[in-house]
Amino acid sequence: MPISPFLFFFLYLFISLSLADGTQLIIVNHCKESIWPGTLGTVGHQTPKDGGFHLHSGEQIVMEVPENWSGRIWGRQGCCFDETGKGSCQTGDCAGLLYCRGTGGKPPATLVEMTLGTPKSALHYYDVSLVDGFNLPVSMIPVGGSIGCGVAACEADLNACCPKNLVVEQGGKVVGCKSACLAARSDRYCCTGDFASPNSCRPTVFAHLFKAICPRAYSYAYDDSTALKKCRAPRYVITFCPPK
Ligand SMILES: *[C@@H]1O[C@H](CO)[C@@H](O)[C@H](O)[C@H]1NC(C)=O
Repeated sequence: MPISPFLFFFLYLFISLSLADGTQLIIVNHCKESIWPGTLGTVGHQTPKDGGFHLHSGEQIVMEVPENWSGRIWGRQGCCFDETGKGSCQTGDCAGLLYCRGTGGKPPATLVEMTLGTPKSALHYYDVSLVDGFNLPVSMIPVGGSIGCGVAACEADLNACCPKNLVVEQGGKVVGCKSACLAARSDRYCCTGDFASPNSCRPTVFAHLFKAICPRAYSYAYDDSTALKKCRAPRYVITFCPPK
């Protein structure tokens, strides 16, 4: 008896769904201009898409990451690459390469950090971090998760209200805002050395500012744990320049 195309379709759907035990990341560019997202797997994890790709304004891509993947994604803007993938970006640049392949982005850059399960826990943990400064607004929203799943985000344009001494400019335009740690490079601001504990490292006036504008993001190394979201969802939408 021939298998009906319908049955075949459902069989295919069933098999592909049951094989997909990883997580889908849908990366959306809602910015007015092109961006070049960078990706970096934590040590021992793969780096998807060779570490970077181009997204036109309004474009989106679907990226599959394996079960228990851990890593980060950030946006690069103002990039110019030749046909061999060499060039530079105004912010988030990774050694002048389109494909970052294991190199992180140059701060200041807003980071989306995630650990999508560990051998000890199936829960997904994720956050948006301003610890390395800010370049683009971004949000991470779970789809198909259950109650208690949070939204990690810094939706405001911190470049517009960045204190003068933290500003990064390109051609007269503010393209990034440094964190206090990045600007001062001192233990007190970076929560390192004598200040490497939650009790000794208090939020600075800049961290308070970042927190007031982006309450759902990490503003400094020992920020309260409300910035860390948890969920168990089959997919997440990561939007650069999300609609407010
Ligand atoms: C992921 O973690 C779960 C436990 O949370 C474990 O059962 C599973 O084997 C891990 N998968 C991979 C691919 O490491």
